[in-house]
Formats: sequence, C-alpha cells, structure tokens
Amino acid sequence: MDNVLKSQMLSGVHIKESKLLPKTLFTKLLNIQYPIIQAPMSPLTTPELVANVSNAGGLGSIAAARMNRQQLKAEIDKVRLLTSKPFAINLFIPPSTPDTCTQDDVRAVKEVLNRILTRMNVTSIDMNKLKLINPPVNLYDEQIDVILQERISVLSFTFGYPSSDIISKCKKLRIKLVGTATTPRECLRLTEIGCDAICLQGSEAGGHRGSFLTKDKDTIEQSSIGLASLLSQCAQQSPPVPLIAAGGIMDAHGLISCLVLGASAIQMGTKFLTSDESTLIPSAHKQLLLDPSKIETTVLTRIYTGKPARGIYTQLIDEFKTMDPKHILPWNIQSQLALEISRYAAKHHQLDFMQLWAGQNYSKCEKKPAKQIVEDIIQEANKILNGN
Ligand SMILES: Cc1cc2nc3c(=O)[nH]c(=O)nc-3n(C[C@H](O)[C@H](O)[C@H](O)COP(=O)(O)O)c2cc1C
Repeated sequence: MDNVLKSQMLSGVHIKESKLLPKTLFTKLLNIQYPIIQAPMSPLTTPELVANVSNAGGLGSIAAARMNRQQLKAEIDKVRLLTSKPFAINLFIPPSTPDTCTQDDVRAVKEVLNRILTRMNVTSIDMNKLKLINPPVNLYDEQIDVILQERISVLSFTFGYPSSDIISKCKKLRIKLVGTATTPRECLRLTEIGCDAICLQGSEAGGHRGSFLTKDKDTIEQSSIGLASLLSQCAQQSPPVPLIAAGGIMDAHGLISCLVLGASAIQMGTKFLTSDESTLIPSAHKQLLLDPSKIETTVLTRIYTGKPARGIYTQLIDEFKTMDPKHILPWNIQSQLALEISRYAAKHHQLDFMQLWAGQNYSKCEKKPAKQIVEDIIQEANKILNGN
C-alpha cells in the first residue's frame, strides 16, 4: 500500500471521525471502488460472477484460458450486458518451447492411470488407446485478437508475459496489464516489461502456480513462497508498481493485513468458488468446500496437468505417490491423460478421483451471492479500522 495510506490506516489514535478503507494505487488505476478482485478460475468463472463482483465495486475476471475466439467474444458480450464497470480477461501465456518427454515416460504415467481406473472399477477407458493431441491447439493468438478488438479494461495473465509487440498494442489501447509473479525475481521481470500491476501469488493459493522463471518440475521446491514473505520482499522493489495479493485471503482480516504489508488490492479465488454465481464447479466439489471437516488438507501437485497446482488431497493424488515426480509429463500431455479420469469421476460422483482445486484457507468458504461477499468484507474491514 502507498505509504501515505498506510500511515492513514494505522494512525487511528488522534482521529475521532470514522475511518473508511482508503483508496489504493490499484483502485485509482482502474477507478473502481474497492481493492477486491475475483480471481480468474479457468474454466469455472461465469459471466454473472464476473459482472456481480464488478457491480459490487470490485473487479471481476473472465478466465478465458480455454476459450476460442467465438466463446470469448460471447462471454464478453454476456458480461457487458450485466455490467458497465471494468472487468479483466485472464489468459495463460503459452510456453515459448514446449517441454518434451520420452515414450517411456508416457507409458509409465499411463500405467499408473490404468491402475487407478481399475481401483475405480472403470472398464470403459483404456489409457493406452487414448489419442493425444500434440502439439496442443493454440488459442492464444485469437484470444489476444479479441481482447484488442474489444478494448478490454484489463488483461491479466499467468505462466509468463506477452511479447513486447502485444504489450505495446495494449498500451496504445490503454488496456491495463496485470502479470502473475510467485517470486521477487518474477515480480521484478514483470515490472521491467511494463506491467501496470502485479499479482503476487503466495504458495497458499488454490489452482496453478503462475511461476515462469522455474521449470515446472522445479517449481514446487523453488517457487513456493508464502504470501506474507513474498509481499514484504516485493513491496521494497523499485519502481513501485501496485501489488495484488493472492493466496489464502478469505476475509477482512486478510484484506487489511495484505494492505498493511504493501498490497494495493487482494485477489480471491477459493472464496468465490462457493458463491451463488459459481455454477460451473461440480456440486460435489462445492459441497465439500462448504463442509471443511471432511477435507484433510490441500497439497501442491503436478499430477493433474504437469504444472504445479494446489488442490484438496485425494486418493488420486495419493496413488501417484509411488511415481517419481520427475517422470510426470509436460503440461500438454499430462493434462490430457489426467483429465480423462477426472471427467469420469466428476460425472459419476467419485469425489476422491476428481480435480478438487482449493487454496489452503478453504475452511472460510461461504455460500453467499458474490456481491455480498464483497460488501461483507468491506463492511468488516471498516469496522476493524474503527476498532470495533
Ligand atoms: C479453481 C481455480 C482455477 C484457477 N484458474 C486460474 C486461471 O485461469 N488463471 C489465473 O491466473 N489464476 C488461476 N487461479 C489462481 C487464482 O488466480 C489465485 O491465484 C488463487 O485463487 C488465489 O488463492 P485462493 O484460491 O486461496 O484465493 C485459479 C485458482 C483456482 C482455485
């Protein structure tokens, strides 16, 4: 948070009138009311979720990573029908050189998955017969086309950063750029390429790690920094760029502590997974998040997509324990194989074999409309600021 605002917030002693959450660099950048961002969550965000968060004074985000040109255009149209406020579109940056693997590695993963299918009593899927799409379909160029044509307010991204050509086109159109960093070094790189704000993703965060300066197989060990440490290190960097804190933030205490540590906004994913507008999440996953006593813990794993991601610990993750993690396949292949099982599991309500994404602070999930989530946090934050 800007130093002036920090002292304003912390120096309550002599001020008698009631204090309100101050504007931050991020809210001023986008001219929005509150420093709360609904995290992009591919493929689970709905137009209603995005629009209702923006309408409540925060910033909604369309998770567009898996959308083609027509789907993305239709999604934007739907959100624009529901709100005139700014919202973000989030993309996955494709790798410049896709990772490769050997046929032996593919065979080894298929073997584990076939064993799991046997445990699940599934006879209709044989991993050895699965046709893999390689190289994967590249949607990135058409997604960028749509974003430029539609002059979206904010382009946020993860797993890297756009080319200098795309960055300068966005700047010309005043599209604000928000990159994702998981280490101070990544934060510095995103500052250098001209990001208008940087989302710092602590290791508590649900979903994929946005890391891009480590190889996927090294990320869990090398780029898993807790949010408080990440924020306090990046807040010292210069030149100052508005920082967005993400990972395990679920309430007003999370918001205020992040602002004090140097953030200009917070980004919440898991909290919005159980909102009323979050209708694409399988109902068994939503129910589980609302009944946290049934959850053992969350872990970072590469078994779903080859990239490290945080989700609820399940039997599926446990079954992979026998496998040396260095044999897990690259993103484009591991994700196709693992998805077969998770899709089947979701359809047949086999919770222990589904992909159950969640951040570490899952026990504070609530079933509420998105607007109320935003309003309750702001109201509570104002109470805390006034010592109530
Ligand atoms: C189900 C799920 C899907 C996600 N998908 C994306 C995505 O498409 N793009 C992205 O930048 N971040 C994605 N994330 C990460 C979020 O942006 C954010 O870092 C994270 O949710 C913050 O941690 P929290 O879940 O504890 O709030 C996803 C997170 C979850 C839980």
